[in-house]
Amino acid sequence: PLQWAIAVAIGYLSGSVPYGLIFAKLFGLGDIRKIGSGNIGATNALRTGNKSMAFLTLLGDVLKATVPVIVFMPLGVLCAALAGFAAFVGHCYPVWLRFGGGKGVATYIGVLLGLLPWLALVFAVFWLLVAKLSRFSSLAALVATIAVPLAALLLGAPIIALFTGLMTALVFWRHRTNIRRLLDGTEGKIGAKG
Ligand code: G3P
Repeated sequence: PLQWAIAVAIGYLSGSVPYGLIFAKLFGLGDIRKIGSGNIGATNALRTGNKSMAFLTLLGDVLKATVPVIVFMPLGVLCAALAGFAAFVGHCYPVWLRFGGGKGVATYIGVLLGLLPWLALVFAVFWLLVAKLSRFSSLAALVATIAVPLAALLLGAPIIALFTGLMTALVFWRHRTNIRRLLDGTEGKIGAKG
């Protein structure tokens, strides 16, 4: 139906706004893609040393999914999920950056916040735990995004498990260079310049 197409289009447009790139430029920190891992996300924004800029990037990348999910919720949970998924895809593959976007972690949590906040809590608990123990943002994200579909399954929500599982697969794909670095022992720790 038309409303699904509109939800996807608006979700994608919202998701494709590269907040990390925009805020880094506004703060006079140059092109974030030339810093650290080259990613446009909050973890890499932190490598500039500017915590406020990193926080704003995180906020923008979370809310760009949460807002479309909430806006489309009155049209049904499927429509809202489509808007959120489109925002997630838009973040990873923005047309403006020739489809070279982020890794989807903040936007994943943004989708959960709008759709099922208790799953966002599961995400946050696992992310914080692994980040605290390992100091690797990528590893924390990989573990948290595995935990979310498993938690959905355990709680008897197979459709949500499938939906979040799809996003998890994309998060893993976007982290393939991080996974290589984790295995090689060359992955950068949180906050470390690199
Ligand atoms: O949120 C992305 C994070 O998991 C990894 O970022 O910059 O270390 O590749 P980065």
